[in-house]
Amino acid sequence: MGKTTLKIAALAGDGIGPEIMREAIKVLRAVEKKHALKLDITEASVGWDAVDKEGKALPDSTLAVCKKSDAILLGAVGLHYRDAELPKEKRPERAAYLRLRREFGLFANFRPIRTHPALAFASPLRSERLGEGIDLLVVRESTGGLYHAYPKKTEEVLDARRQGAKPGKVVRAIDTMAITGSDVERIAHMAFRAAWLRRKKVTSIDKANILETSILWRDVVTDVSRQYPDVVLEHMLVDTAAMQLVLRPTQFDVILGENTFAEILGDEAAALVGSLGMLPSATLGATQQGRTFGLYEPAGGTAPDIAGKNLANPIALIRAAALMLRFGLGAPEIAKAIESAIDKVITEGYRTKDIASAHDVKERQVGTSEMGDAIAAAI
Ligand code: IPM
Ligand code: MG
Repeated sequence: MGKTTLKIAALAGDGIGPEIMREAIKVLRAVEKKHALKLDITEASVGWDAVDKEGKALPDSTLAVCKKSDAILLGAVGLHYRDAELPKEKRPERAAYLRLRREFGLFANFRPIRTHPALAFASPLRSERLGEGIDLLVVRESTGGLYHAYPKKTEEVLDARRQGAKPGKVVRAIDTMAITGSDVERIAHMAFRAAWLRRKKVTSIDKANILETSILWRDVVTDVSRQYPDVVLEHMLVDTAAMQLVLRPTQFDVILGENTFAEILGDEAAALVGSLGMLPSATLGATQQGRTFGLYEPAGGTAPDIAGKNLANPIALIRAAALMLRFGLGAPEIAKAIESAIDKVITEGYRTKDIASAHDVKERQVGTSEMGDAIAAAI
């Protein structure tokens, strides 16, 4: 049997990006040796790294590598302390992240969040709130909503509300939250399909007591749910959801929401398991000819404070690489092999600093590269 080839664009980026990318590639190479799979990995620059090397956060050459690939594996981009060097449109957050999402139509962001029993101590929640453990999936619409809609601008206007006083000029900033029925429909299908493979429950997030976009959102999600009679749909206001996540996180299976709402709840849920360094993120486009193009990355950021010190936890990106094999290659059993290797080293006590407890005698505190070695060896 011939080997399946997966072409990967590996964009390490800024901060801890290069260190964790090295470990993810190490693990992927170990996978390649064990499984009928060929990985064709091309590295390219992105973020401030690309600004320094090629003058742009997402150089055309990098975009070209991505276009020739089946998947993008991304470390992290953005260094807040360099923001003053470039106007906001050219900074990596907009010029690389948001551009990549738009360029490749990556509308469906998945953030699976679960606790490992051995890491329950890392959660800020009391153990009785964690119950059997948190296992949820945040499905975030990622090419529409408040992030992308226009108008989006800052302008000077006459302040008409200053009654009595002489009208003067004020600065006004505008973002637009707009969403189309078809945007909601396709992301809702993604959420219901994912839920169908899990515990069969979707909690759809909105602010339908106030926002027009949310009323449409709720209607369309309800319509789509009729096609998934086995999946339970529940609607929840975003403020309630923020509260319920800390009170009773185990009630959630799939959380579905608009770009900004799901972004915020996703980080809140991530904090509940203790470290952002454990959580992957996959952003997928439409499936064409049986293949789904996607971008796979850690849910956390560049962590400039620990960059270059062999302290970062590479697990989020290694888990993202597993998602890449699951969704991008359609090889769930190989993805599982990576995830099992990660669980194994955690059970054995390997800990980067972010997931270390002072009390566990079984623990072996390791650096970024030792964690990568251990996982690669466990494949
Ligand atoms: C994320 C990040 C990005 C976002 C930023 C860096 C633009 O926080 O992927 O969650 O807000 O989408
Ligand atoms: Mg975020």
